Amino acid sequence: MDTLAILVAAGRGERLGASAPKAFVSVGGQTLLRRSASALARAGSVGALVAVVPAGCVEQARGDLAGVPKLLAVVEGGLRRQDSVLEGLKQAPDGFTGVVLVHDAARPFVDAAIVDEAAAAAAELGAAIPVVPITDTVKRVVDGLVVQTLDRSELFAAQTPQAVRFELLGRALEEAFRDGVTVTDEAAAVERLGGPVAVVDGHPRNRKITTPEDLAWAERLLAGEGAA
Ligand code: CTP
Ligand code: MG
Repeated sequence: MDTLAILVAAGRGERLGASAPKAFVSVGGQTLLRRSASALARAGSVGALVAVVPAGCVEQARGDLAGVPKLLAVVEGGLRRQDSVLEGLKQAPDGFTGVVLVHDAARPFVDAAIVDEAAAAAAELGAAIPVVPITDTVKRVVDGLVVQTLDRSELFAAQTPQAVRFELLGRALEEAFRDGVTVTDEAAAVERLGGPVAVVDGHPRNRKITTPEDLAWAERLLAGEGAA
């Protein structure tokens, strides 16, 4: 197995505000968890898949993921995203030295090409993430007043899967843990160590479902494709 995918699905989904954890919310009749797991499994670079789910939800997730290929394990996550990733990393087979892909269950429409490109770039350089250019002009605002207009040509939004070599990711997350630092993505943990993080082209379709508006967008996308 060259590449281990860790599907992080242990969040509560507070901004979505559904009654169930976000991973179990359905779009087009299928949960975000199952859609994103299936999407990862379709990528040729993915050898095995670990799903990290909310506490108490392992059995439900196993049922939901029945029949998804390459599924190695379903485990409980932690309080923060980085704690969930560490739980997933524990499932890596002994002696594993390949690339780990950390993917948000909240991004159900990731394309196999993005997954494979991120994995290949990380194998070469250590770490890689998909990004998309920011289209709006971005302002820095302090106390209700604009203090700076940022150079948009240098600004990108990070997506997942975030691809990092196994040993590097383990070290980066353990150091963040030890230093009491919360990181919002895996790349940030690698950046703290001074390591390079390459970028590959993400895609607007690989959008994260965060709010009810995002969910409505996803439903429209599937309906438009006749897949709902
Ligand atoms: N995640 C996780 N473990 C956590 C927190 C987040 O596995 N302790 C996962 C989420 O399940 C999600 C991904 O990280 O797939 C991206 O996080 P986000 O979109 O913020 O999801 P939630 O944390 O669930 O949503 P919210 O912040 O609105 O509560
Ligand atoms: Mg969150």
